[in-house]
Amino acid sequence: MSKNVVVIGTQWGDEGKGKIVDLLTEDVAAVVRFQGGHNAGHTLVIEGNKTVLHLIPSGILHENVHCLIGNGVVISLQALIKEAKKLIENGIPVFDRLKISSGCPLILPSHEALDLAKEKKLGKSAIGTTGRGIGPVYEDKVARRVLRVSDLLNKDSLREKLKNILNYHNFLLTNYFDEKEQSLDEIFNQLLDQRDLILPMISDVSGILDDYHQQKKNILFEGAQGVFLDIDHGTYPYVTSSNTVSAAASIGSGVGPKRLDYIMGIVKAYTTRVGSGPFPTELHDKYGEHLGSVGVEFGATTGRPRRCGWLDVVALRRSVLNSSISGFCLTKLDVLDGLEKIKICTEYKLHDKTTSNFPLEISELDNCEPLYEEFEGWEDSTKGLKRFSDMPLNAKKYIQAIEEMLHLPIDIISTGPDRDHTIIRNNPFS
Ligand code: GDP
Ligand code: IMO
Ligand code: MG
Repeated sequence: MSKNVVVIGTQWGDEGKGKIVDLLTEDVAAVVRFQGGHNAGHTLVIEGNKTVLHLIPSGILHENVHCLIGNGVVISLQALIKEAKKLIENGIPVFDRLKISSGCPLILPSHEALDLAKEKKLGKSAIGTTGRGIGPVYEDKVARRVLRVSDLLNKDSLREKLKNILNYHNFLLTNYFDEKEQSLDEIFNQLLDQRDLILPMISDVSGILDDYHQQKKNILFEGAQGVFLDIDHGTYPYVTSSNTVSAAASIGSGVGPKRLDYIMGIVKAYTTRVGSGPFPTELHDKYGEHLGSVGVEFGATTGRPRRCGWLDVVALRRSVLNSSISGFCLTKLDVLDGLEKIKICTEYKLHDKTTSNFPLEISELDNCEPLYEEFEGWEDSTKGLKRFSDMPLNAKKYIQAIEEMLHLPIDIISTGPDRDHTIIRNNPFS
């Protein structure tokens, strides 16, 4: 029996999705990205060699695996080509393995300029975006004015469509944001240069995925960001501009929801967040410093330090319900090694009452005080462990407690950044 497995982040991103997607690619015919763009930064470490991917699916290092970019992904051709060339220099034949949906919206330099201008105007209440043009391009998609990959097919209409969208962008940039105009000729010529590399990869991703299904082959869906950055279900307005919950795998690839067999929620053994917005369990003490420095918590895309805090089960319960999580993969457990105590937030105190529901309104979230259950830490190193039986007793207790609190199994435990630093208790494809 073939299986379709979806990997998503259950927190605020950077849970270690890239590592797990690369690992699970062992068993699949295709890996497909279905939302977001090069705001993502997915890190793969294989025998000590690090690769950071932003737009190209994390299955790309495997031979005989198709990597697909689904219609839900927004593409900067410049970023895509740059990323592909770097991989090609390292011997990865990216253009033979990669296919792109004709429906993907194109990120233009003017989208980036608008993203930066918007953030500047917001001042203190800026979202802390990655500045990659993600918000503005999704706005244009919904407004039905965006250029799509399929528009590259016809040079003549491409210029006309580009002219229209740039007229609008330049009006906003100069009149509303007091910023510089973007040049139609420059951007058009760039697109013409990029086009030749892209045209051969344009495909019917939905059709390819259906063919694989008919051939009884496994498919892996790779999410970007995390559930609480979802435009509908996240901590709005401090979110990204796409849907990051598991259902997006269906919409962003053109595979019906009944075909998604297993949803793997990636959860870091603690919590991090990059950018602004509420974060109930955030720490500003020696524990927060430990997580940030031992966990090397710096953004893989922008290099910004990530905010760090304890694991938040109240938040995770909401990820379970809005994404139908089938099982978890717990990552970065090794980062907790050596802490004398570890806490898990099990409830919030809000307006003098305790609640185990994650509130949706940020005005409420800002006022939530986390209530913790405390666990004894462990001194022995878990780094690189491959067998559950080798875990220190207190680490096993921590893992078991999370499973009991969330009523779901932790099927994979990641004990280090390398592909090999992994305990697979139950392979979702088996
Ligand atoms: P993603 O965006 O979800 O793919 O995650 P990122 O790649 O942005 O961030 C995860 C970081 O943690 C990367 O630097 C990974 O190499 C690293 N990492 C992943 N799993 C583990 C783990 O189990 N232990 C440790 N110490 N690092 C890990
Ligand atoms: P991966 O896939 C962590 C955050 C930004 C900002 C907000 C909006 O590596 O987990 P955007 O540029 O998307 O408009 O920014 O979302 N953000 C991420 N945080 N990991 C990511 O991706 C992120 N992608 C966007 O920091 O707060
Ligand atoms: Mg990341």
